[in-house]
Amino acid sequence: MNDNIVISVSELKKFFGDVKAVNGISFNVKKGEVFGLLGPNGAGKTTTIKLLLGLLEPNEGTIKIMDLNPEIDEVQIKSRTGYVSEEPLIFKSLTPKDLFNFIASIRKLNAEETSKRAQEYMESLGALEYYEQLVATLSHGNKQKIQIISSILHDPELLILDEPLSGLDAKSVKVVKEIIDIHIENGGAVLFSTHIMEIAEDLCDRIAILNQGKIVGIGSMDDLRQQADHLGANLEDVFLRLTEQDVSVNEIVKKLRKSFSGGN
Ligand SMILES: Nc1ncnc2c1ncn2[C@@H]1O[C@H](COP(=O)(O)OP(=O)(O)O)[C@@H](O)[C@H]1O
Ligand SMILES: [Mg+2]
Repeated sequence: MNDNIVISVSELKKFFGDVKAVNGISFNVKKGEVFGLLGPNGAGKTTTIKLLLGLLEPNEGTIKIMDLNPEIDEVQIKSRTGYVSEEPLIFKSLTPKDLFNFIASIRKLNAEETSKRAQEYMESLGALEYYEQLVATLSHGNKQKIQIISSILHDPELLILDEPLSGLDAKSVKVVKEIIDIHIENGGAVLFSTHIMEIAEDLCDRIAILNQGKIVGIGSMDDLRQQADHLGANLEDVFLRLTEQDVSVNEIVKKLRKSFSGGN
């Protein structure tokens, strides 16, 4: 296999009963790139990510992560991957300090060094004041910051981030972008999900646009921009059209206008 390919997905399918959450998708993610899964709610982004991590088993298709198979090598993949899940942290009864110590011990990292690095990240994300406060008491955004820090302490080669910017303030978004940039400069790879085109445009080198479990558009941001230009549209319009959101958006806007003008 090509050394530069970190994630390779082929004809992947995952059904929940009648729901075709992932319905035959294929893509590669290379070293040194930020690859985005962009799609509306329910498009299949989280399901794809869980399949990559071996948290769900596919119905069909193949996945290779750093030449490993998630169904067999889940532990090895986890040791070389940093994952930020969509749901809030599970270790709510710990403080960030305890959590980072716990991570250092299970990942066999130097305790002192890890604690120092974690605190530096906390500081740069404006969250150091919560270092010894129970995770359960933190806001969504601050929980998200703790999760992001937890995912990078072991210097993984691959970062898999499921809507990591949700709930973050503008300054923290900038810091997370910086963390992603540094990870890429160090030769890492990032798979990133978002439902916001603007975020994809800002962060990703290449994206796959997902709708109802299928890839409806894939390419570099430059390619997609050129194609949009060609159609005389902007990227946001192309995204809304590809994901069949354009008609519903227009209707919603019409209804909103009507209700705000007292139904006249
Ligand atoms: N555990 C599950 N059981 C049943 N349906 C599920 C489950 N997880 C996801 N789905 C369904 O699969 C589809 C894709 O969901 P998801 O991957 O979470 O989308 P996204 O992350 O893009 O919002 C949705 O229709 C969702 O309701
Ligand atoms: Mg999701």
